[in-house]
Amino acid sequence: MFDYTEFVKELEELKKNGLLNRIRTLESPQGAWLLIEGKKVLNMCSNNYLGLAFNDQMKEAAIEAIKKWGVGPGAVRTIAGTLKIHSVLEKELAAFKKVEASLVLQSGFNANQAVVPALLGENDAVLSDELNHASIIDAVRLCRAKRYIWKHRDIKSLEEKLDEAAEAGARKMLVVTDGVFSMDGDLAPLPEIATLCERQDTLLMVDDAHGEGVLGEKGRGIVDHFGLHGKVDIEVGTLSKAFGVVGGFVAAKMTLIDYLKQKARPFLFSSSLSPAETGAALAAVRLLADSDEHVKKLWHNTGYFQSRMIDTGFELGATRTPITPVMLYDAKLSSTFSSRLFEEGLFAQSIGFPTVPKGKERIRVMISAAHSESDLDFALERFRKVGIELGILS
Ligand SMILES: Cc1ncc(COP(=O)(O)O)c(C=O)c1O
Repeated sequence: MFDYTEFVKELEELKKNGLLNRIRTLESPQGAWLLIEGKKVLNMCSNNYLGLAFNDQMKEAAIEAIKKWGVGPGAVRTIAGTLKIHSVLEKELAAFKKVEASLVLQSGFNANQAVVPALLGENDAVLSDELNHASIIDAVRLCRAKRYIWKHRDIKSLEEKLDEAAEAGARKMLVVTDGVFSMDGDLAPLPEIATLCERQDTLLMVDDAHGEGVLGEKGRGIVDHFGLHGKVDIEVGTLSKAFGVVGGFVAAKMTLIDYLKQKARPFLFSSSLSPAETGAALAAVRLLADSDEHVKKLWHNTGYFQSRMIDTGFELGATRTPITPVMLYDAKLSSTFSSRLFEEGLFAQSIGFPTVPKGKERIRVMISAAHSESDLDFALERFRKVGIELGILS
């Protein structure tokens, strides 16, 4: 029989170092407040930025989609065909993003796996920010192009790497960056990156998982935020965060989407979103296109919470978005802080290695439009109490 000792030891080591993921079981939907192990806690962990994960219109849309289309897609779309509801979602999503076309995939993670290996071969080059999300890192590993990693948000470093790749004779170059960096909440310097890419005739791809529904007019994303329509070749998005459902998508020119439909392996070899997810996502797109009420509330809450946290004495890093990293710089401290917050009725996870570099441990607070000001006051008070208790605040 296989000897599992190595795995057991590694799990013990993770626990000892405060790095063991503790996965909580929720006994309620992803609302502002949760029931966990019979305890009512304020939810500050979810990427449900706009509170749409439990939106009534979207629940209705999911139920209607099940009634009309059933529960499963049958098989991959190239074999079993595309349900019309998928095509409608893709058309409306493209219109919302102000691009020619979009392609919906099973997750944001899969959308990155779909794009990078499909577009690049061994004579090509891929250039990636050092803090890009794991799904980009894996997509880069999957493709056979030469890899160049540039320093986080550093345009000079990107320029050097582009020159290096061009000198090495790269046939085609793809620059890929997170739009909003998921652990720090800072933004890619997209206008500068786009200018460089234009100059070097390079494809530009942005993973806007945390910008969709958050940045830009009505939550159209980072490209809209910077007024860069037409200057970014590929936008990868997720339906799993602000859109409140699950799934991912690619938004781009029609030619590129047509190409991915022939070449992208997660599209060719994995079944599509279920009708319920597709119907709910379509309702989310319509909701965002109709009103910016949720997006405005999200930004109001973000300003309210972050300014008070800073005034209280916490360090929030370089965030420019609702992602709120409360920097603690120590794995054990961060893990203890999170456990104490939970005891105090606040669910906010500690984030450690490998999600963030060693020594950059933090509590990551996610602000949502679902929070009320009194929810945020409750959180502020609990953070202050635990901060004093653990010696972070005086
Ligand atoms: C930047 C980024 N890209 C992609 C993903 C994956 O999205 P999904 O959960 O839809 O697979 C995430 C999720 O954490 C992310 O933060």
